[in-house]
Amino acid sequence: MSELILGIESSCDETGVALVRTGAPGQTPQLLAHALHSQIEMHQAYGGVVPELASRDHIRRVLPLTGAVLREAGVALDQVNVVAYTRGPGLAGALLVGAGVASALAAALDRPTMGVHHLEGHLLSPFLSADPPQFPFVALLVSGGHTQLMRVDGVGRYALLGETIDDAAGEAFDKSAKLLGLGYPGGPALSRLAGEGDARAFKLPRPLLHSGDLDFSFAGLKTAVLAQAQRLGDALPERRADLAASTQAAIVEVLVKKTLAALAATGLQRVVVAGGVGANRLLREQLDAACAQRGVRVHYPELHLCTDNGAMIAMAAAMRLQAGVAQLRRDYAFDVKPRWPLEEISASNH
Ligand code: KG4
Ligand code: ZN
Repeated sequence: MSELILGIESSCDETGVALVRTGAPGQTPQLLAHALHSQIEMHQAYGGVVPELASRDHIRRVLPLTGAVLREAGVALDQVNVVAYTRGPGLAGALLVGAGVASALAAALDRPTMGVHHLEGHLLSPFLSADPPQFPFVALLVSGGHTQLMRVDGVGRYALLGETIDDAAGEAFDKSAKLLGLGYPGGPALSRLAGEGDARAFKLPRPLLHSGDLDFSFAGLKTAVLAQAQRLGDALPERRADLAASTQAAIVEVLVKKTLAALAATGLQRVVVAGGVGANRLLREQLDAACAQRGVRVHYPELHLCTDNGAMIAMAAAMRLQAGVAQLRRDYAFDVKPRWPLEEISASNH
């Protein structure tokens, strides 16, 4: 029997709502409709996300987006079987909006709720593409707040292989972009500028490249970028593209090499890249090239589903339901988990 899952994402600066239908066992759930409102423009004036403004904007957007999704799918609200929402990690106030609205809708409908882990949403987002991956695979999770390599054996079966000991890859992009006078979010801006520069112009550190483990460190990189920018002084404006290109090359090289090391360590032949930095073109090119040489398949979410969205939350909920590992709540109480390690929801840790 198929079920309709409404998914709500509100962990940071994007309000996303989506409707997914579960299928027969072994079938990938189907995305019926999704809608997104990005707050990027609103936060741009402040150079970063302002949590209180984010929460208020989620409140304004979530119900209109829900209406739009239901209309597009041709589904009535009372046909929804489960209301899923992002329970964490993320900004507490922003998460509470999605959790509160989802629980209120579910209570009105007399249906259960499901709290979804935001990173599990990213991790499973490639299943929304036309050519979904198969388990098991190595996942490279690269977002604004996280940089992790995981071994994924199935829905809810995640083992951490390595992670950043300081800044996330997205943070490295964002902070370097800020140093170069680029706007927020820095990743896309820095990568655009890098396209006009020479990646070999400046020697920047590749932290932990030869550490022998699968951990990352990016905090030193932004310090190196700052030092280089200061050294350039008045010459910075005409060398900005070169510095952007060199920064991007450093981040991407570390991500690619560590992913290859994770493949070697696990013996797996498949990679899934997820999270906002997965939209980076150079990362895709270099990872594709390196993996093609080794006969390894690389899967990405569709470009517009790399950054936060509701589709990945509804999808993760649907895949959990289908796999029989969903935790449904029927008491309409809710809490959010601003900090929530992904390993906590992994079956291998229960
Ligand atoms: O997954 P996401 O939307 O939000 C989090 O859960 O953090 O990721 C946002 C991050 C930001 O740091 C942003 O700068 C980065 O992804 N990003 C990129 C690109 N597009 C987004 N970084 C590099 N290149 C891009 N094209
Ligand atoms: Zn995210």
